[in-house]
Amino acid sequence: MYKIAILPGDGTGPEVTAEGVKVLEAAAAKFGFKYETEHFDLGGDRYLATGEVLPETAVDDFRAFDAILLGAIGHPDVKPGILEKGLLLQLRFELDLYINLRPVKLYPGVETPLAGKGPEDIDFVVVRENTEGLYAGAGGLLRKGTPHEVAVQESVNTRMGVERCLRYAFDLARKRNKDNTLTLCGKTNVLTYAFDLWERAFHEVGAADYEDIKRDYAHVDATCMWMVKNPEWFDVIVTDNLFGDIITDLGAMIQGGMGIAAGGNIHPGQTSMFEPIGGSAPKYTGQGVINPMAAIAAAQMLLAELGEADAAAQIDKAIAYVAAEKLKSMNAGRMGYSTSEVGDLVADAVATL
Ligand code: IPM
Ligand code: MN
Repeated sequence: MYKIAILPGDGTGPEVTAEGVKVLEAAAAKFGFKYETEHFDLGGDRYLATGEVLPETAVDDFRAFDAILLGAIGHPDVKPGILEKGLLLQLRFELDLYINLRPVKLYPGVETPLAGKGPEDIDFVVVRENTEGLYAGAGGLLRKGTPHEVAVQESVNTRMGVERCLRYAFDLARKRNKDNTLTLCGKTNVLTYAFDLWERAFHEVGAADYEDIKRDYAHVDATCMWMVKNPEWFDVIVTDNLFGDIITDLGAMIQGGMGIAAGGNIHPGQTSMFEPIGGSAPKYTGQGVINPMAAIAAAQMLLAELGEADAAAQIDKAIAYVAAEKLKSMNAGRMGYSTSEVGDLVADAVATL
C-alpha cells in the first residue's frame, strides 16, 4: 500500500492534480497496486488566511509518505519569494531532494516551435542539482537601502552534492541506453571555481566507474543554442541548480510547452516529490481549460520512481496516444477538451490500450 501525499497548491494546481490522481486510480485498477492519498492544503490561500507557509510538523508528516504529488506553488496576491522559498524550496532542501529530473520528450503529434525537428530529435533528460548552487541562499545585503549598498549571492557547490548528482546522471545515461552519453552543462570559462569542481568530479567519477558512458561538455550558453539547433545531440544533461532551472524552461518549450512538461524532485529511496513544472497559471484558475497532461506525466514519473514500471510505461503510452490522436493543442483553452475530459481520455487509454 503506497502512501501518496497530494499537495494541490495554488491557482490551477488543484484542477490538474485531480486529473493526475484520476490517472493514478486507473493505473492502480489495471496493474493491481494499492495506494492511499492524503491532501495537504498548503499554498497561497492558506498563507493569506493564516500567515502559515509550511507548518513546523509538515516536513516530518511528508516523510511518512512514499511520494508527494504537487500541483503548483505561486499566488498573485503573495509577494514573490515567500511561497517559492518557504514551501517549494524548503521541501526540496528539508527532504534533501537532490535531483531535479526533467525529461524533455516530444510526443508524436505534439507541436514544437523547432522547424524540421520531430520526436526522434527531441528526447533527452536534464538532471538538475536541486539542493545547492545559487539556490542555497548564501550571501547577504550590506548597507541595504543606501547608495552604498552591496548584494552578494554565492553559489555553493560541495564535492558530496556534486558527486551524488553526477552519479545519478551517469546511472541514468546507462539505464536509458540511448546514446550512452552524459553532457556536463557548465561555465568553465568564467565560473572557474564552481565548475572546476564539477568538471574534475565529472571526469574522476566517469573514469573510475562509468567507462561505458561517453563524457561530453557544453557551456550553458552553447547548451541553449544546441537545444534549439541540434537537440538530437543530447541524451542526458547534468548541470547545477540555476542553469538547470533555466535550460529546462527552454526544454519545456521545445517539447510542446508547459502543458506537457513534468519533473521529479528526487532522493532515491526516500520520499520524492513530482510536479508539473508550469506553475500556477492563476489567470486560468477554475475555468477547466488548463492542460493536465503535465500533472499526469508527473504522476507517471512518481510511479516509475516507486518501481511500478509497467504502470508507468502504460501511462506514458496513454499520454502519447491522447496527445497524438485526441488533443488539438497542448495549450490551455485550445485542447478541444476540458481539463477533466483530458484526464478521462488518458484514464480510459490506461485502462484499454
Ligand atoms: C522550478 C521553478 C522554481 C525554481 C521556482 C518557483 C522557485 O521555477 O521549479 O523550476 O526556480 O526552481
Ligand atoms: Mn523554473
